[in-house]
Order: sequence, then structure tokens, then C-alpha cells
Amino acid sequence: MKDIRTLKVSGVFHVPVMLREVLEVLVWREEGVYVDGTVGGGGHAEGILRRTRGRLVGIDRDPEAVAEAGRRLAAFGDRVTLICARFSEMGEILQELGIYEVDGILLDLGVSWHQIEDPDRGFSYRQDGPLDMRMSPDGPTAEEVVNRYPEEALVRLFREYGGERFAKRIARGICRARGAGPISSTGQLRDIVLSVVPNSIPHKMLSRVFQAIRIEVNDELRELERGLEVGFSVLVRGGRLVALSYHSSEDRIVKEAFRRWKEEGKVRLLGRFFPSQGEVAENPRARGAKLRAVEKLLGGRDVSKGISGSDVGGWNRGARLRRAALGAGGGPVADTGGGALRAG
Ligand SMILES: C[S@@+](CC[C@H](N)C(=O)[O-])C[C@H]1O[C@@H](n2cnc3c(N)ncnc32)[C@H](O)[C@@H]1O
Repeated sequence: MKDIRTLKVSGVFHVPVMLREVLEVLVWREEGVYVDGTVGGGGHAEGILRRTRGRLVGIDRDPEAVAEAGRRLAAFGDRVTLICARFSEMGEILQELGIYEVDGILLDLGVSWHQIEDPDRGFSYRQDGPLDMRMSPDGPTAEEVVNRYPEEALVRLFREYGGERFAKRIARGICRARGAGPISSTGQLRDIVLSVVPNSIPHKMLSRVFQAIRIEVNDELRELERGLEVGFSVLVRGGRLVALSYHSSEDRIVKEAFRRWKEEGKVRLLGRFFPSQGEVAENPRARGAKLRAVEKLLGGRDVSKGISGSDVGGWNRGARLRRAALGAGGGPVADTGGGALRAG
């Protein structure tokens, strides 16, 4: 195995990126209902809860993230509801909670520190672990993608999701190597890639290859397209949709959706923001982050059936509904002091 510096395990679940900027652009109504569609370790969510007196629905597809957010946000009691699900399911989740409009939605895309640093999750080429890369426990693993996809599909994946110019050579190297037996660890994959492409900056190339596989495994781009559409549909007039992206494929989808809505007269663009130099110096993982935000101009849904962002009085009724639904659904339910938490 080639000598690649191992990641320092920080012991920190995640450090929220552009926290100040996110709060400034997202929070506009103190009594509002906000959705954090990628709650992760709960850093942004905590910021939102501190800055408001309203409610927060936190969604994450990773049960470990939901559990961590539950610990971090427990002090906020029944102002918080945490759900283990994909953010594209936001519509159904809110409906079950009896919420028909929300004041703000945050999508902080990509992976958390915790996911990258845990070798058992298989996200990082810096540590040896199983080729997994799933954010949630279901769905195909990276091992299945690497060992089963035809060569042309791998080429396309490395090109389109990784922007990798040596896509062809890497795909061919993988197919040759798997002929001798399955590729089942991140270390194996890393060595194969490094053996076929001599590169003076292997970190960047490895990042692109691993990122491309991760995007495929988690169907991240389609999730994002769906999440943006459903997010827009549940926003109240004046509501804010904020997306933090970390690579060009994600940002393109956000930019395109926002541009289209603007042309249709549905939103006002609130701008594009980048992390400060100081933040990047303190948290190098903030490098490359791009924040885009819109404000909805057209009215939202018929609120007669449930609560809207300006009517949080109905919240507890909705939260009970969700708790009941989750309990009956067979998934383990934990109470964070008021909010429902589906841990599996
Ligand atoms: C960058 S982290 C978010 C960190 C969070 N903002 C914080 O302050 O701790 C991204 C999180 O989004 C989750 N995620 C990514 N795609 C998702 C999706 N489609 N639905 C739900 N969660 C998703 C990941 O599991 C991960 O925990």
C-alpha cells in the first residue's frame, strides 16, 4: 500500500460550514418552522434553534447522524423532531407531522466528518476499510458498484461525477484487477487507482474517484433534484431555501433549479456566498463550499389542513401524529424529550 497520510481522527462529529452565513440568510421569522434536511451532527440545527423560538424538523438518512443530533439537540425538547429518512421524502414527513408549510429549508450536502473519518463506513481512501460508502444502511454498496458495473459505466461515472480526466484508464485498471478477484476494501481500490495513473497529486485524483463512487452509491444528484422540488413546494411565501454544495455537479443542479424558478417568477435570488479565508484556515473542509439561497415569491400550499410556519400552535398535534406513525411502523422510536426519532 502506498504511503498516504492518514486522517487525524478528530473526535468531532462535524463542524458546521458557514454557520453565520446560513443563519443570516435562512432565518427570517423568529416563530417559524424550519427543516434541516441534512441534520448531521446538529450544528446548523442548533444554530437555527438558538436564533428562533419556533420548531425544527431535522432529517438525515444516516441513523448515526440522527442519534448524534438527538443528543445534541435534546435540550430543545419538543421544539425538535428528528427523522431518519431522505430529504426527498420531506413532503410525506411533513404531512405526517401535520405541517403544510415551512419557513425555511437547509440542505447542507455531502458527508459529515464522522462519516469520512470512520474507516468502517468506507468513504475515505486515507484509511483502509470495507468498500461501503452508504449514507444509510440500505441500498447498493461501493463494492457492488466497483465490482459489477461495466467498464463504460465506470468511465462515465468518473467523468461525470468526478470530472476525472483519466477516467478511462482508471476504469480499465479496475476491471483488470477485479478479474483476479473482488475488490472489497478502500485500500485495494486506492492502490489500483494509484497503480494505473502516475500522479504527482494523488490526493486530488483519489478524492475525485471516491467522490464519484459515493455520489453513485447514494444516488445523490437525483436526491438533490427531488429534494429541491419538494422543498420548494412546501415553502411558505417569503420562505427561504438554502443549499450548501461542495462540488460542481451539486452546485450545477442547485444553480439550474434556482435560475429556472427565477425565470418563472417564483423566487428572488438571495445570492451566492463562499466561506471566508479565516473559516477555511480553521476548517479546510469548508474549502470549495458554495452557498446559494432563494426566497419564494409565490404562495405556498393550502394551509387549512395543517399548520403553517406562522401557526406553530398545531405543532404538538403533528409531532404526536408522527410519533404514533413511526411507532406503529415498526421502526425503533426514541424520544429526544419531545421530538420523534426513528433510529433505524
Ligand atoms: C455535511 S453533513 C451535514 C452537517 C450538518 N449541517 C451539521 O451541522 O452537523 C451532510 C449530512 O447529510 C446527510 N445526507 C446527505 N444526503 C442526504 C439525503 N438525500 N437525505 C437525508 N440526509 C442526507 C448525510 O448523511 C450527512 O449526515
